[in-house]
Amino acid sequence: MSSQLIKNVLIVGGGSAGWMTASYLAKAFGNKVNISLVESPEIPKIGVGEATIPNLQKVFFDFLGLKEEDWMPECNASFKAAIKFVNWNDPNDKNDYFYHMFGQVKNIEDIPLTHYWNYFRENKTTNLPMAYDCYDKAKLLDAKLSPKTLNHESVMSHAWHFDAHLVAKFLKKLSISWGVKHFEDEVKNVNLDANGYVKSVTTTKNGDLEADLFIDCSGFKGLIINKALNEPFLNMSDQLFCNSAVAASIKHDDEENGIEPYTSAIAMKNGWTWKIPMLGRFGSGYVYSDNFTTKDQATDEFLKLWNVKEDNISLNHIKFRTGRNKRAWVKNCVAIGLSSCFLEPLESTGLYFIYVAIYQLVKHFPTKEMDEKLINSFNDKIEVMFDDSRDFLQTHYFTTSRIDTDFWKANKHDLKLSDSLKAKLDMYKAGLVVCPPITTNEKDYYGNFDIEFSNFWTNSNYYCMFTGFKWYPDSVYPKVLYDEKFEQAQQYMKDLKERENMLLQSLPTTYEYLKFIHHK
Ligand code: TRP
Repeated sequence: MSSQLIKNVLIVGGGSAGWMTASYLAKAFGNKVNISLVESPEIPKIGVGEATIPNLQKVFFDFLGLKEEDWMPECNASFKAAIKFVNWNDPNDKNDYFYHMFGQVKNIEDIPLTHYWNYFRENKTTNLPMAYDCYDKAKLLDAKLSPKTLNHESVMSHAWHFDAHLVAKFLKKLSISWGVKHFEDEVKNVNLDANGYVKSVTTTKNGDLEADLFIDCSGFKGLIINKALNEPFLNMSDQLFCNSAVAASIKHDDEENGIEPYTSAIAMKNGWTWKIPMLGRFGSGYVYSDNFTTKDQATDEFLKLWNVKEDNISLNHIKFRTGRNKRAWVKNCVAIGLSSCFLEPLESTGLYFIYVAIYQLVKHFPTKEMDEKLINSFNDKIEVMFDDSRDFLQTHYFTTSRIDTDFWKANKHDLKLSDSLKAKLDMYKAGLVVCPPITTNEKDYYGNFDIEFSNFWTNSNYYCMFTGFKWYPDSVYPKVLYDEKFEQAQQYMKDLKERENMLLQSLPTTYEYLKFIHHK
């Protein structure tokens, strides 16, 4: 029996998910598969200032053949080398902050440096936060230095902030030049065949658009996956309480203040606020739970944080659902983006979920037979990707020491934690290495290890967060006491500081670098 190849793919929706999918599939399949995208000019896109993670370059842009210098200027992109968590321990202390770093802490033999650091902390041979002892960039971030030199040499693993609208616009132009057919039209109806497969979508101007495979990028609506195919959405509001946001773009004097090379996540009374610096402004939004505060109160708290008046800025109120579809791929429809799953933005996983889905779709790309085994395997990948990140996010709410409002108290006491998460918390408390990364070599790690092997949240990530919250293991990792590689660990920490001090002298500021590449 010869398999029949998919000839036509129709992408429904033209936000970040739609255009990322269009460009990636066009690159992957060239003229073997016809790709079309229909988007409504009427539907507003959700993109606010967006934060990303390092593997965006390897997994997505490298695949398209684009270097950072090619796409960054098109998207008003800036750098992000970490997330700075502010006020997650003490609401009143301006100096209460810690970094969640990108990059993997190295091993001493087969034990991560974090575990030696914890021994030194217990024995009071260090009083520095973990990130200042086990990485070589905390001081560089404090000084707002650039992760890249003016010769474009990367000296710290980093990701990007950008305007998601500009990225979509850039990828749209690229996709169309690669042969993607673009319809600006309204989708009125989804038509199923006798077996319940999607046959076509009816549009206002172009009639029925048929395809073999449909990609639902219609956002929270889930036009095909939820509305037409009735796939249930697993709502996880008992596992993460935030469900709303108020966002705005806020002017910033870069000349005076410089540009921070990190995202900030500032804990608030009923959630937290993101700050995403870009040239001349920063995107910001208060993510809160409307079960604990009102829209007006939240808006008020948000405006006070930045000391701005409501009349002077344009506020964007967003309501979101947290959770995922039971299955991301059903029959001949694959949901990608918000139509598939949404986790609140605390760890910048939004775009990551999109390109993981696209990457896996290409690996699992079906023939017209739509083999269930391919579909099941794809769905398993998406499920692990999402649930694993949900678990990691829960730890932020659960392990922080804040209990000053009902919101924070509820997070301490009422969150429903998965068994696999409870097991990880126990491992940590026992002093064990939590989720050891498959490799600590950054080049390999960001070259697909983290998406291919579900090796995404590693010991380094858990250690940044837990020690940041001053939530420490009950005891030192016993194996450290037998191995006794203390001198080696001390020496390694010294080497890190040496490199850091050298870079402190030589790197340009983030503002200088960005002015340079954006020709400002
Ligand atoms: N493995 C991911 C990375 O290092 C983990 C990650 C996702 C992360 N979002 C993050 C790490 C935000 C630090 C900050 O890329």
